[in-house]
Amino acid sequence: MINSDHKKQAVARAAIEYVEYDDIVGVGTGSTVDYFIEYLKPLKNKISGTVASSISTKEKLEANGIKVFDLNEVSEIPIYIDGADEVNGNFQLIKGGGGALTREKIIAAASKKFLCIVDESKLVDVLGRFPLPIEVLPMARSYVAREIIKKEAMPSWREGFVTDNGNIILDINHMDIIEPIKIENDLNQIPGIVTVGLFAKRGADQVLVSNEKEVINLEKK
Ligand code: A5P
Repeated sequence: MINSDHKKQAVARAAIEYVEYDDIVGVGTGSTVDYFIEYLKPLKNKISGTVASSISTKEKLEANGIKVFDLNEVSEIPIYIDGADEVNGNFQLIKGGGGALTREKIIAAASKKFLCIVDESKLVDVLGRFPLPIEVLPMARSYVAREIIKKEAMPSWREGFVTDNGNIILDINHMDIIEPIKIENDLNQIPGIVTVGLFAKRGADQVLVSNEKEVINLEKK
């Protein structure tokens, strides 16, 4: 097992402590969450069920015999557990490396608590080193790309990738995201953008970070 996998596994295991009996658990998407699903399996008869943030997560949960509800079948979700591509000191995030940002953002919004699980490589002072994913309606691709270029950033089309919602992803490079909420709001004004992978207004409530030796409950700066 390579090092980063080991760290992902450790932080996923630590997240299990935050799952309570009878909870409905929101489950994110990605390689860290894949480990979390393995650890959740023994609790499948103790929790009420889950809500999945992607088709791939839904399939993995069901393959492990874990009940998956449609978001419309549940009211508030007590806890949402998901990884991230970048995390800053205010617990604001870049997400969407796996392209599941829209459903992830909806579930984060519908959840009482968002517990983010990452290894130490995801921690940054300023968001934006990781290209910011945005989900875009296919017909708006060129228009949205031009609008991004006007903001002196560089969009790149994730060619061949289609989201669970039938849309495309543009990854925005070269953005120093000094004011994350402002940038999230600005980008949300561009017609054709479905979701911005910046989770600034609704970031994480708690962040668990794994390093070589241990899992730390990160303190907000
Ligand atoms: C999925 O769209 C992303 O938001 C993931 O949460 C993010 O890419 C983290 O994935 P890993 O756990 O695989 O690093």
